[in-house]
Amino acid sequence: MSKTAPELPTIDVEEFRKVVHTRRSIRRFTPEPIPAAVLQDCLDLALLSPNSSNLQPWEFHRVVDPERRANVVRACLNQNAAKTAAELLIVVARTDTWQRHCEENIARWPEPSVPRIVENYYRRAAKVHYGRLPLDPFGVVKKTLRKLSGLRRPMPRWPNSDADMDLWATKTAALGAQTLMLALRAHGYDSCPMEGFDEARLRRAVPLPRKGVIVMVIGAGRRAENGVYHERYRFPRERFIHEH
Ligand SMILES: Cc1cc2nc3c(=O)[nH]c(=O)nc-3n(C[C@H](O)[C@H](O)[C@H](O)COP(=O)(O)O)c2cc1C
Repeated sequence: MSKTAPELPTIDVEEFRKVVHTRRSIRRFTPEPIPAAVLQDCLDLALLSPNSSNLQPWEFHRVVDPERRANVVRACLNQNAAKTAAELLIVVARTDTWQRHCEENIARWPEPSVPRIVENYYRRAAKVHYGRLPLDPFGVVKKTLRKLSGLRRPMPRWPNSDADMDLWATKTAALGAQTLMLALRAHGYDSCPMEGFDEARLRRAVPLPRKGVIVMVIGAGRRAENGVYHERYRFPRERFIHEH
């Protein structure tokens, strides 16, 4: 398994800082379209985001049909960020693909042989970790068993229920969304994440996976002059950054 580490390129942190500092939630876009190659590059970069156990429980649904788009805008409560966006992307977290993706991690392992530890993880451990016990629809038995095992040794206490799995997949999908938005900015385009939408109407507008959690809708495009509604501000950093 020993490999020589590939040489890392030098990264200019100031360029990264520019991306982070200039990314704003844009509420009005110009009509300029995002070139297809740019958008596809941003989506490809999003797919490189960190994700739980490389199970990739995310999907990015690009709304292209004009009638669907009009309905999505309505479902997004007619927000300007949706109405004026050149692109509308729906980020979905999936809780029903992890078993297939366990198999796929083994099948697509990037080296000639799959290490035993990897195979064991995807064939057995992951199934116990993410799966549900028979006759335990709410994960109560699983939670209790984990608690008991945890008395003797460190034990992941989670995920147990469907709600836990929704959160599990949502964490990963949100990271994908963030990379997508940063990538758009790095290409000179902008975005607005939106959770202000009517889920029932959104699901009627676009055939999204029934079991998927709609994490956010992202409006994207070139920012209009009046696209930023106010200066950016945050609360004091001491409130959020802790050392223990
Ligand atoms: C999960 C999530 C949902 C959001 N939903 C909306 C939304 O529905 N409409 C909107 O205009 N902005 C929405 N925003 C944008 C936030 O209001 C914005 O990120 C925040 O005010 C900070 O501003 P900034 O992104 O310009 O730094 C959302 C952001 C996140 C992360």
